[in-house]
Amino acid sequence: MKTILGGFAVLVVLSQVAWAADGAAVFEKKCKMCHSIAGVGGPMAKNGGPLDAVGAKGEAYIKEYVKDPKSKKADSKMPKANLSDEDLGAVVSYLMGLKK
Ligand code: HEC
Repeated sequence: MKTILGGFAVLVVLSQVAWAADGAAVFEKKCKMCHSIAGVGGPMAKNGGPLDAVGAKGEAYIKEYVKDPKSKKADSKMPKANLSDEDLGAVVSYLMGLKK
């Protein structure tokens, strides 16, 4: 019985780690070229700037911004990020988790 419970706990922890890593992976693939986190960014990171503190703007703001930047800022230079709902949720959670 103990072993079964222990195995279950490990599974839960592992799935959370995998899920948390997803948002970071989405960032790496879809956002990093124009943004930076912890001072590390892609070739155009100067354009989008750091996203370390963007969580302070709130989850709803980030979600809507990433889905359709012009809905939040009419002259936004960020293109729509064509993400699945899953990837969008993951990357938003990731950004929310960065703020102190
Ligand atoms: C092609 C470049 C580019 C890509 C790719 C990109 N962004 Fe942006 N992003 C920008 C630029 C440029 C701005 C600033 C827009 C402006 O003010 O005109 C911005 C702004 C933002 C903002 C608003 C920041 C604020 O302070 O209001 C958020 C949030 C954001 N980006 C998140 C993301 C996420 C998440 C991804 C990946 C899914 C992503 N961006 C991909 C260029 C990009």
